[in-house]
Amino acid sequence: MSNVPSDRKRIVKTTGDQMTKQPINSGSRRVSTSDDIEVGTYLEIAQADRTTGSTPPVDDRMQTIVIMDFGSQYSRLIARRIRELNTYCEILPHDAGSEILDTQDVIGIILSGGPNSVYESGAPMAPSWVYEAGVPLLGICYGMQLIAHQLGGTVEPGTQREYGHAVIHKDGQDNVLFEGLDTEVPVWMSHGDRIEELPPGFRAMAYSENSPIAVMGDDRGTCFGIQFHPEVAHTPQGVEILRNFISGVCKGLGDWTPENFVSDAIERIKERVGEGKVICALSGGVDSTVVAALIHKAIGDRLTCIFVDNGLMRKGEADRVQNVFASQLGVNLVFVDGTERFLNALKGVTDPEIKRKTIGQEFIEIFEEVAVDIGEVDYLAQGTLYPDVIESVSADSNASHKIKTHHNVGGLPEHMNLKLVEPLRYLFKDEVRQAGIELGLSSQSVNRQPFPGPGLAIRIMGDVNYEKLEILRNVDWIVIDEIKADGLYDKLWQSFAVLTNTQTVGVMGDQRTYQYVVAIRAVTSADAMTADWARLPYETLGRISSRIVNEVEEVNRVVLDITSKPPGTIEWE
Ligand code: XMP
Repeated sequence: MSNVPSDRKRIVKTTGDQMTKQPINSGSRRVSTSDDIEVGTYLEIAQADRTTGSTPPVDDRMQTIVIMDFGSQYSRLIARRIRELNTYCEILPHDAGSEILDTQDVIGIILSGGPNSVYESGAPMAPSWVYEAGVPLLGICYGMQLIAHQLGGTVEPGTQREYGHAVIHKDGQDNVLFEGLDTEVPVWMSHGDRIEELPPGFRAMAYSENSPIAVMGDDRGTCFGIQFHPEVAHTPQGVEILRNFISGVCKGLGDWTPENFVSDAIERIKERVGEGKVICALSGGVDSTVVAALIHKAIGDRLTCIFVDNGLMRKGEADRVQNVFASQLGVNLVFVDGTERFLNALKGVTDPEIKRKTIGQEFIEIFEEVAVDIGEVDYLAQGTLYPDVIESVSADSNASHKIKTHHNVGGLPEHMNLKLVEPLRYLFKDEVRQAGIELGLSSQSVNRQPFPGPGLAIRIMGDVNYEKLEILRNVDWIVIDEIKADGLYDKLWQSFAVLTNTQTVGVMGDQRTYQYVVAIRAVTSADAMTADWARLPYETLGRISSRIVNEVEEVNRVVLDITSKPPGTIEWE
């Protein structure tokens, strides 16, 4: 990304109420920033009860696969697989209207699996527009049974539930869905019902031990049903089957590439914002970094970023954010040093949830004050990602049994009267990272471990104060330093230190000491919903421990957290 000439850069440094202009050193190095401290999280915490918001319209038509969600735990995985095949897709609740046909170039529809039986009363059905849209259809598991049921076939409970590995045997005829695959295909099954009678115009294309009709297709070669799950890793050739459906049946072009989704996002921002002005709260995390870089590329100086240093960041973090945005990206940046205000507000607060709420409220207050000082602004940029959107949509869907409501989407303090611009609204996290690279951000910058919004406040047990923050910052620095030195950083979901509120006796030289115990927490995870404690090498642990007790005077004991999630959480508070 090209730098804006330095005379266009504007850094305003404030300490909450008082604003002073302060230039920042240009010529700085490309540095990494932390993840996850998103304004949405703060909004969620502080403003959950008084929010409104609007959904930005989709104003571009692109080749799209629609996934109708019947409550399968795998719906999101189907979407991931399709995006990995460079095809744009959206998940819709099973009872969604047909509006997407007007807004996107829908090239195919997938009916997901689900926990119901199609013959039960009240079982979710696919709306008629799905069958009338004139685009190819693929039913997966429950989705296949639905196609059979709704188009005149018969579905009944199987004599035996088929769960886990199975092998399907293709019939001898050519079948575009299975092009390039062997006659016998290992798959993953998870169903109790089976198709007894095909709908008119369909034929069976493969069978398994417990499913005489494991794959079906219509005579026209545009409507298919598969009893197994192609989206899971246990179906090794599942991606090939999805690829055959998208490119062979739906004639997808595979044009959802980082280059295209970046240029697409920039066009959408331009269209949505017009001549308006945008503010964006930066956290240093990858989401807000990419949001800011995209919007800056689209509208240049009409974007102003706000970075609130809450004093709860890791060592050097606030400086790094300033360097990246002001010096390297040339973005208008308002930097607010809110340390004192946050620490005052946190005085005596020990309850983790009250800590979160206090930090969220303080952030909102500062953010609103700064927004007033900036003057007339029309839009607030937010790093909402596609999984947040899916969760919100699915929460309204009857078929969704387990997905929770997520307040992050579309929440804004009413009186701020700002419209939302959410350029990452259609991207998964890995696509956000790819977009960041495409925009010229360093891989170090976009591959950060997540860092919680309330920062080190929820890694200091009990009362938070400046001294404890400094101790933890120094310890945390050593942990990350050693983890990186041993090439482990990218393999871990998170790795950090916790400052306990326990002190223990130690001995140093001839001196008896009575100092803090810190805990090392390192976990592996795919999505933070579950996590396992990382088996760090003893050598790494040994170096971490010895450096901490030698370099951080206030600590004389290091322990290791070996709890998985569940039952533990990743953070201690
Ligand atoms: P837990 O501790 O619930 O954390 O296992 C799961 C993931 O969420 C992060 N986390 C937070 N992120 N605000 C955030 O922005 C928060 O209040 C918060 N609490 C936990 C945590 O770091 C982990 O990645």
